[in-house]
Amino acid sequence: MSGLEGKKALVTGANGGIGQAIVRALQAKGAIVAGSDISDCQADISISGNLTEAEFCDRLPELAREKMDGLDILVNNAGIITRGTIDQTSDDDFRRTMAINVEAPFRICRAAIPILAEVGGGAIVNTSSCWGVHPGPNHPLYVMSKAAVASLTQCLSMDHAHQGIRVNAVCPNEVNTPMIRTGFETRGLDPDKAIEELNASVPLGRIAEPEDIADVVVFLTSDDARYMCGALVEVSGGKPVG
Ligand SMILES: NC(=O)c1ccc[n+]([C@@H]2O[C@H](COP(=O)([O-])OP(=O)(O)OC[C@H]3O[C@@H](n4cnc5c(N)ncnc54)[C@H](O)[C@@H]3O)[C@@H](O)[C@H]2O)c1
Repeated sequence: MSGLEGKKALVTGANGGIGQAIVRALQAKGAIVAGSDISDCQADISISGNLTEAEFCDRLPELAREKMDGLDILVNNAGIITRGTIDQTSDDDFRRTMAINVEAPFRICRAAIPILAEVGGGAIVNTSSCWGVHPGPNHPLYVMSKAAVASLTQCLSMDHAHQGIRVNAVCPNEVNTPMIRTGFETRGLDPDKAIEELNASVPLGRIAEPEDIADVVVFLTSDDARYMCGALVEVSGGKPVG
């Protein structure tokens, strides 16, 4: 795979299961990475802040550019999963889910695009979900928010290709991270046992590890994916949503 030597990347949700793997995978290809999360993270540069704060999102790409002396790659990876049928979800659930999963990537893309355009282009990878492309049951807020990310990705890819900016999305199915494990714990289940059962439902024999997703993200940011623009890349081990 082409390297990313000298490229400067910003990754949100850099403390999470998939985020940590994305930071490591980008660094392994030679990129310098600014990671952002609620608290400090392991990256070349750490920028902590809350994505529910509009002003923080608006400033984040410029902050990253200043600290790294450039910006070529943006990975909007942070996200939360809000569970429950519509009658179980509150106004606060709605506002928080949309703020983190939709408004933050919208604001960060809006702020990053002129910065990428100024240096002749770059790559944006947004994290949607298989559930954003094929909605599953019991998670109306999550599926709506991830469908919005998928649509945003496709629209931006058409609008900004002429500036040399490629926008794509990665759409994972189940991944072995705190997001999925805490869900089992809240339901009183043993996460290891529950994941073993889930593994049996995947044609490839196991749910994804964070690195399985991170490698696809890195590919999408690299020159090997130079003709990919507006793709919603499902990384599912062959498992359909259902
Ligand atoms: N784990 C899965 O099964 C799965 C499947 C499909 C898509 N995804 C998506 O992948 C992405 C990463 O998920 P993950 O599994 O690594 O989850 P995770 O919970 O391990 O990590 C998410 C990270 O986002 C950060 N974050 C959340 N709210 C924030 C806020 N307000 N401000 C700043 N940072 C905030 C968290 O601190 C956390 O470090 C998410 O967008 C998620 O929707 C995950």
